[in-house]
Amino acid sequence: MTARQILVTSALPYANGAIHLGHLVEYIQTDIWVRFQKMRGHECWYVCADDTHGTPIMLRAEKEGIAPEALIARVHGEHSRDFAGFHVAFDHYGSTNSEENRFYAEDIYLKLKTAGLIEVRSIEQHYDPVKQMFLPDRFIKGECPKCGAKDQYGDSCESCGAAYAPTELKNPYSAVSGATPELRSSDHYFFKLSDPRCQDFLRRWTREPGRLQTEAANKMQEWLGTEGEQKLSDWDISRDAPYFGFEIPGAPGKYFYVWHDAPIGYMGSFKSLCAQRGLDFDAYWQKDSRAELYHFIGKDILYFHSLFWPAELEHAGYRTPTSVFAHGFLTVDGAKMSKSRGTFITAESYLQQGLNPEWLRYYFAAKLNGTLEDLDLNLDDFVARVNSDLIGKYVNIASRAAGFIAKRFNGRLFHASHNHLRDTFDRDLPLREAAEEIAGHYEARDYGRALRRVMALADLVNQFVDKHQPWQMAKNVEHEETLHYVCTALINAFRLLTLYLKPVLPHLAKRAEEFLNIAPLSWADAGYVLPADHPINPYEHLMGRIDPKQIEALVAANRESLAPVSEPSPQRHAQHQQNTEDKMQEQTHISIDDFAKIDLRVARIANAEHVDGADKLLRLTLDLGSLGTRQVFAGIKSAYDPATLVGRLTVMVANLAPRKMKFGLSEGMVLAASDDGGDVPGLFILSPDSGAAPGMKVK
Ligand code: MSP
Ligand code: ZN
Repeated sequence: MTARQILVTSALPYANGAIHLGHLVEYIQTDIWVRFQKMRGHECWYVCADDTHGTPIMLRAEKEGIAPEALIARVHGEHSRDFAGFHVAFDHYGSTNSEENRFYAEDIYLKLKTAGLIEVRSIEQHYDPVKQMFLPDRFIKGECPKCGAKDQYGDSCESCGAAYAPTELKNPYSAVSGATPELRSSDHYFFKLSDPRCQDFLRRWTREPGRLQTEAANKMQEWLGTEGEQKLSDWDISRDAPYFGFEIPGAPGKYFYVWHDAPIGYMGSFKSLCAQRGLDFDAYWQKDSRAELYHFIGKDILYFHSLFWPAELEHAGYRTPTSVFAHGFLTVDGAKMSKSRGTFITAESYLQQGLNPEWLRYYFAAKLNGTLEDLDLNLDDFVARVNSDLIGKYVNIASRAAGFIAKRFNGRLFHASHNHLRDTFDRDLPLREAAEEIAGHYEARDYGRALRRVMALADLVNQFVDKHQPWQMAKNVEHEETLHYVCTALINAFRLLTLYLKPVLPHLAKRAEEFLNIAPLSWADAGYVLPADHPINPYEHLMGRIDPKQIEALVAANRESLAPVSEPSPQRHAQHQQNTEDKMQEQTHISIDDFAKIDLRVARIANAEHVDGADKLLRLTLDLGSLGTRQVFAGIKSAYDPATLVGRLTVMVANLAPRKMKFGLSEGMVLAASDDGGDVPGLFILSPDSGAAPGMKVK
């Protein structure tokens, strides 16, 4: 097998938010693949960086009263710490705000310009006259042009799901200053994606075998349209000052839009690595490069990676990605991550709670299959799966054999010829023959399948233990030799399982290698068994079980507020915070049937009182007429004096699963409006018009 040259990237996380478990689906997944390639003996490099430019980062720094450089330096430290904590081993973790990146951002731009693919056009945009800046879509709010809902973002309505241009909003206002934006025109620089050269190239490229997963390729066909159709529009790659980013050469006051220099950050980061290690940058990036280039990304940024990015590379004279590997989104217990449920879990809090990062690596790996499907972290299943597979099936093999080897056989394995040992082992425990099959699953990023195969092998080993019952043999000196052989076979089996699990569990594997007294395992080591008489080290406990209480504590630690007031769609909310400026978004419509699942009822507040020890909650007793009464804890203490609530009518969700809280059971939720994350303070509970009676259905 000849060694391949492989460059692998994960998407560059924004430099203004914490790494959370959703991010980790990507970084852990990529890290496993890279570790696997390295174990196969290939030259494989893994680079990433913080994505540092753009308006939201600029404004965030301003809000904190620091320079953007100071903000991104701090976040770089936090991100690096979190990734290291989960054993995500980049060969280089850089920043898009680097000189290397500036070089390639300018270089690609100038080459596209020479190719006639940059065009300057004047466009009209919202301008904040108070803040004196043009406003990205996400920073303009107003009334939805379709349904009239207030305080909607500039690109789509959370209330009716309509998508529109920010110029269509009614009564728009700046989310930065509150001022009414003016329309002003200004020159913008466009990458001419509509040029026939780009269209033709992308039609061809996105269909080439191996470039995109089937699902992604189909999406691209939709975006590209059929032959002859012209669906792509030019891409605006400039922003006006003030902007945190790179100034465009020859265009004072104009900056590269963050999404222009972000993927180029892959090159910038790799360039830094080349300088550190003396690698040949061109061998990986020149047009006829024979090296492989893979981008792991979430499905939300597919558009950028399979249209803009390859088109830019191609027409600037660089190689294009070998493949783009997109994955789905993380849900927790079947729902989007939610701050109020405590399932918006940060990497930092997971580690701070003392949870083992390899539990999560294992669980994610067990659920990944190389497709764009979403992946669910089911917290009960997480505990059960890790405890049963890793502890029950795998780690126990070592602990069961190690004691006998240490006490009875002086810490040494069975003495027989190597060939004999290997042959009897292969006969009793056919683990070695699975090596290439498992490798194939890792290569295809079907880690779930790889791990199912490994656990089936672990089952075989445990059946072998049950059949031979070493603890019985140990009672009879006549069986000394067999006992020694059986324990040796178990140690060899443990070594192979460790090898197969090593991309997923690098830290555990390292400790197992110390116990086994062997050099770091690579894939080729499946070709051997341990030599006769091989001395092993005393066994030290390799991994503990998850206690479900730890998970409860983790969720409690991430629960932002105890208050189940109406909950804004957490993922969109998170995305705003992550300031994905104008990421492509899937429209989220629900059907009327989905809506009908929510049992909304008119309720009379029969009683309202303070709750001892709660700073945000009121305890409400809600009268639902013939449906009886309900107790609900509502996070509205800051806005209402309980005495003023008693007797009022409001609206509640009557079929929400009851939730046990520190103060008692909460059996539903009252609806309240708030300017979530915006400038209008306060909470406003809903009330029906007079005439409505408790228990009436709202639909
Ligand atoms: N900065 C851009 C990427 C630029 S790449 C040239 C960005 N950053 S991000 O921080 O929002 O996301 C980083 C990666 O994490 C993306 O691939 C994104 O899809 C992924 N994920 C973020 N949240 C996720 C989940 N909840 N689940 C799975 N992956 C998620 O996008
Ligand atoms: Zn609307």
